[in-house]
This record gives sequence, C-alpha cells and structure tokens, in this order.
Amino acid sequence: MSSLKEKIITVVGSGLIGRSWAMVFLSGGYKVKLYDNKPGQASGAIAEIRKQLEELQQAKMLRGNLSAAEQLSRLSSHEDLQQALDGAFFVQESVFEDLEAKQSVFHAVEELVSESVILSSSTSCLMPSNVFSQVQNRTRCIVSHPVNPPYYVRLVELVPHPETLPAVMEVAYSLMTDVGQAPVRLRKEIDGFALNRVQYAIIAESWRLVQDGVISVKDIDLVMSEGLGMRYAFIGPIETMHLNAPEGMKDYLQRYSEGMKRVLNTFGPVPDFSGEPAARVIKEICELIPGKQEHLSARRERRDQLLMGLAKLKE
Ligand SMILES: NC(=O)c1ccc[n+]([C@@H]2O[C@H](COP(=O)([O-])OP(=O)(O)OC[C@H]3O[C@@H](n4cnc5c(N)ncnc54)[C@H](O)[C@@H]3O)[C@@H](O)[C@H]2O)c1
Ligand SMILES: *[C@@H]1O[C@H](CO)[C@@H](O)[C@H](O)[C@H]1NC(C)=O
Ligand SMILES: *[C@@H]1O[C@H](CO)[C@@H](O)[C@H](O)[C@H]1NC(C)=O
Repeated sequence: MSSLKEKIITVVGSGLIGRSWAMVFLSGGYKVKLYDNKPGQASGAIAEIRKQLEELQQAKMLRGNLSAAEQLSRLSSHEDLQQALDGAFFVQESVFEDLEAKQSVFHAVEELVSESVILSSSTSCLMPSNVFSQVQNRTRCIVSHPVNPPYYVRLVELVPHPETLPAVMEVAYSLMTDVGQAPVRLRKEIDGFALNRVQYAIIAESWRLVQDGVISVKDIDLVMSEGLGMRYAFIGPIETMHLNAPEGMKDYLQRYSEGMKRVLNTFGPVPDFSGEPAARVIKEICELIPGKQEHLSARRERRDQLLMGLAKLKE
C-alpha cells in the first residue's frame, strides 16, 4: 500500500466520518477531495486533519509509508460540488444520517460524474435500496459502512444494492484492502447489516440480565471486556467454537448444541429500553462514568488510545 497514486477519491460531507475516511484514503496514497455544503466546514476539516496527522506522526502511529506532509499535500477542500468531483473514480458520501439528505446528494452527484464512477455511502442504518433510490444507474452503488473510529477499527461492511454489479463490489473490496482497512462482503442487504445485528444481540441480552437483577452494569461490561472481548479482538465466534472442542466444530456441536439451545430458549423478548430498567442502567453507568462532557471525553480519549495500541498489536 501507500505508493503515491494519481487516482482521486471524493469525500462528500466532512464531519467526523468524512474526515476519518479522508485520512484512511490519504494513508493509502490516494488524492482526496473533500466537499461539504456548510461553508467553511471542508477547509476547517483540513486544519483538523493536519493536526491529527502531525500528532499521529509524532506518536509513530501514522498509517501507510507516506509522511504527514506528503499525505496533506494530496488533500484539497472544495465548496463547489462539480469541482470536488472532477477526476474522481470513487465517491464516499458521509453526510448526516438522513435518508432525504443522502438521496439528494446521490441524485446531484450522479448528474456530475461519468458512468464509471462508483457511488459509495457511509450509512450505518439505512438500506442501500432506499439510499440509492434516486440514482438512475444503481449498478455502481454500494454501501461501505465504517466503524468508529475507522483509523483504528478497520472493519468496513460492504453492502450491495440489489442491482449492484459484482465488479463494483470487487473495486470497493480492493480499494478498502489497498488502504489497509478490513472489508467484509454482505451478499445481500439486511436491516442493521452484520455488525449492528450482532451488537444489538449483545446489548439486548446484557440489558435483560441487568433488568432481571442477575448482574450489575459494571459486571456485565466486565464479562465482555475481561472475557469474550479478549478473544474477539483476534478470533470470531465461529472460530471460537471450532477451537473450544478437542476435535473442532463437529465435536463442539455434539457436545454443546443442546446446551446452547436450552439457554437460548430462555432469552426474553426484545427489551423496551425505557422506564424503571432504563433509569437503573443510567444511574449505574453514571455512577461509574458521570454523564458530563469532561468525563465522557476523557473516557473516549482512553478508548481511542487503547484501540490504537490494539491496532498496533494486531499488525
Ligand atoms: N459517527 C459514527 O460513529 C459513524 C460510524 C459509521 C458510519 N457513520 C455514518 O457516517 C455518516 C456521517 O456521520 P458523521 O458522524 O460524520 O456525521 P457529522 O454530523 O459529524 O458530519 C456530517 C457532515 O455532513 C455535512 N453535510 C450535511 N448535508 C450535506 C450535503 N447535502 N452535502 C454535503 N455535506 C453535507 C455536514 O455539514 C457535516 O459536516 C452518517 O451516515 C453516519 O450514519 C457514522
Ligand atoms: C510504500 O510502500 C509501497 C509498497 O511497499 C511501495 O510500492 C511504495 O513505493 C512506498 N512508497 C514510498 C513513498 O515509500
Ligand atoms: C452503469 O454503471 C456501470 C458501473 O459503473 C457501468 O459499467 C454501466 O455502463 C452503466 N450503465 C449505463 C446504462 O450507463
């Protein structure tokens, strides 16, 4: 990765995720053009990215093999959408999570680019068939859903529209691999994609255990951070099963499938996430980490520091 490239990627929307995408693509040697419809936002984003790249360089955590200055020299901001799209082969939309906003962005973008340009959305919870409904040629549309913060958490879920061409999925896959992300392909669209469906299953059972008075908020979080999470940074649930029985997966299923089904059948309905149980969870988590900005910011900084260390370890 990171050989200097002449290829251009346009990032539309320069908030938290747009800025992160820009940094990821720059690290892979691409030229990046940032556009935002809020005046001054994209140029402000460049200043923010400069600061972050310099800090990362200082900390020897800069991704790719180009210096911060080399990467910055390949980044530009634009207030004019046509100018921002000029020459791009890939467009990564990262505007507000609002269906109409995204639909109108893609409608406008399609008018300004040639047929071969790939249109990609960062949406976390909208379906590709809705996001791209205003696009004429939907065969070149795809969702590339990052995980926050994308600079340290490399997963990208690639989710096709029902009409997306396999070749478009492959270009997105190669691009993400080339810039050092870890892409996964969904074979069809589904609400929540894969990551959030698994995440919500974990949240739901954690919530039920607290709600039913089985365990405290502090301790259920420890079940993940000191238990399951330890291995999940390196191996997934299916490999975990395969390794956890002497003879592998078949053996695991023989030994444990009855028990799994028995326990799974005791899972309750979807929690309501409101009322007395919600009040209790809020009280308990705020006793551990007060809900004030200063405390939350400090914990977010700690999270990002730890993720940075883990990303390094995973290399
Ligand atoms: N924040 C996360 O954790 C996260 C994770 C994965 C995916 N996402 C997705 O990424 C997208 C962006 O989220 P974010 O957290 O960066 O939001 P954000 O609010 O930080 O940034 C959105 C940016 O888009 C700009 N914008 C709005 N409408 C626009 C338009 N029509 N044209 C150009 N620019 C426009 C805004 O000015 C703003 O700068 C959302 O779809 C979100 O669901 C977010
Ligand atoms: C970065 O690494 C790639 C692959 O190893 C190489 O092709 C490229 O020339 C390097 N770029 C620089 C600027 O060193
Ligand atoms: C639609 O987009 C695809 C992928 O970019 C392209 O190959 C195809 O020629 C386009 N179709 C039309 C009708 O222009």
